[in-house]
Amino acid sequence: AGTSGAPAAAARPPGGGGGRKSKTTTRRAFLRNSWLGTMALGLAAFGGASIMYLWPNLTGGFGAQVEVEEQDFILEEIRANSAPYEIPTGRTWLVEYDPALDPDGQYADLTNGAPLMALYWKCVHLGCRVPWCESSQWFECPCHGSRYNRWGEWQGGPAPRGLDRFALEVRKGVVVVDTATVVTGPPRTAAVLQQSPEGPSCL
Ligand code: FES
Repeated sequence: AGTSGAPAAAARPPGGGGGRKSKTTTRRAFLRNSWLGTMALGLAAFGGASIMYLWPNLTGGFGAQVEVEEQDFILEEIRANSAPYEIPTGRTWLVEYDPALDPDGQYADLTNGAPLMALYWKCVHLGCRVPWCESSQWFECPCHGSRYNRWGEWQGGPAPRGLDRFALEVRKGVVVVDTATVVTGPPRTAAVLQQSPEGPSCL
C-alpha cells in the first residue's frame, strides 16, 4: 500500500490540490460578489425611491407651483360661466379680484397685481371640499353649512374664518399659483367684499 500510494502522490502535479481549492474559492468569491452586487443595487434602488418619495414636489401638482392657463382665458371663463375657475390639480378655485373693491389692499400681496385670487377649496371647518353655488354666487359647504362669499370670506356657519388661500402671479401671461404655502384665511370680521347672496342657497 505504501509503494502504491507514493507514486500517486508523486504523480499529482505540483499545486494540483491548491488548483481545486483556488477554483472553489474563485467560484465562492464570484457568488459572494454577485450577491453583494445584487444587494447594493437593491439598496440603491430603494434609497432612490425613498428620496423621490420624500423630496418635495416642486412643480406641477398640489404642494408646488401650479402653472394654470392664460390669465385672459381664465377671466373669460369666469365671466362666461358666472363661476370660479377650478384647478383640480391645485385644489384651488380662482375668482376674479378687483383691487378697486379692496381699497386697503388686504389681498394685494396674494394677487400680485393680477385680477384673480386663488382660494384653497378645503373648508376651514372640518376640511370638506367647498363647492360653488351657482344660484347664490357663494361657496357653500354641504357638510355643516358654512358659507363664504365670492372672495371666500366667511358669511355664516361653523367655519372659524374665511377660506384659506394661495399667492399667485402672472408669468408671461400665464397664471401660476403657489400651492406650497397655505395662507390663513381672513377672520370672520374682516370681510372686504360686500356681496349679498344673489339667489337661493344650494344647501
Ligand atoms: Fe364645511 Fe363643516 S366641513 S362646514
